[in-house]
Amino acid sequence: MNVTLNNGVEMPALGFGVFQTPPEVTSASVTAALGVGYRLIDTAASYFNEREVGEGIRQSGVDRSEVFIETKIWISDYGYDETLHAFEKSAGKLGVDQIDLLLLHQPVPTQFDTTVDAYRALEALLKDGRVRAIGVSNFMPDVLTALLDRTSVVPAVNQVELHPYFTEPDVQQANAGHGILTQAWSPMGGITSYRGGGQSTFDDPVIGRVAADHGKTPAQVMLRWHLQEGRSAIPKSVNPERIAANFDVFDFDLTADQLAAIDGLDTGVRGGPEPASVTPEAFGRDIPEA
Ligand SMILES: NC(=O)c1ccc[n+]([C@@H]2O[C@H](COP(=O)([O-])OP(=O)(O)OC[C@H]3O[C@@H](n4cnc5c(N)ncnc54)[C@H](OP(=O)(O)O)[C@@H]3O)[C@@H](O)[C@H]2O)c1
Repeated sequence: MNVTLNNGVEMPALGFGVFQTPPEVTSASVTAALGVGYRLIDTAASYFNEREVGEGIRQSGVDRSEVFIETKIWISDYGYDETLHAFEKSAGKLGVDQIDLLLLHQPVPTQFDTTVDAYRALEALLKDGRVRAIGVSNFMPDVLTALLDRTSVVPAVNQVELHPYFTEPDVQQANAGHGILTQAWSPMGGITSYRGGGQSTFDDPVIGRVAADHGKTPAQVMLRWHLQEGRSAIPKSVNPERIAANFDVFDFDLTADQLAAIDGLDTGVRGGPEPASVTPEAFGRDIPEA
């Protein structure tokens, strides 16, 4: 199942994430994902596993042209020249000439000029054909508007935290209004589980009942919910059985009432960092050369 981005590029709606996937198991995870049908891989410079993602793609035997590779520039590499160089670092580690979708990982509100310069570098990479589409991540509506005011290419994608316990209706509405695809990170609410404390989405009774109705798992129901509501989702797993199960979501349909019941679970509480709090002082990381 593909979605068409706002520049006409086709992207698989359901992809495979590798945040917190240790480098030593990344290539096997990516190979397993490609083996069961995923064709979109989401990584990031700050996950420190781009090299192993590239190896996994090559080891899978799936042709490069069939795989949609998405990665992200970390904030420590923002600035026009710095971001152009960061593209070379990511492409070099992935072992590819062209990246399908390149995102700014976070806005840096305290250095917004530098964030805008980084985005202008993405625009230049797009114009030169080094990337097929560009976008952002963790851009809240006000920051998104501020970016659009100063740049010319509307992002194709805004990747944000989005799961049944944090649905960000205002962000989804703002993205849709600009023709930007919302892509859900932590799409199964993994962050409600690995972060610890509180209720995990995987154990939610409402999701559990919907899953039982369809003979599916809570994870499969959450992924189906994203797809039916028009979002892209990028579930992560290092477990081959879960990797396969999380892609086995194309043989059932949730009813309108079931979608609404899941929408109704929103708590308004995010699991990840408040995007406005991300500063180079607190979150700076050195991204190595390729
Ligand atoms: N842009 C950003 O700032 C940002 C932030 C966070 C994440 N992301 C992206 O989004 C992707 C997914 O996010 P995420 O890893 O936070 O959350 P997620 O995909 O919702 O959940 C992953 C967690 O759930 C477990 N899991 C996977 N499948 C399962 C299943 N079927 N049943 C029960 N547990 C299952 C995984 O453990 P096992 O691996 O052991 O299966 C892992 O702990 C990341 O890999 C990354 O690509 C982006």
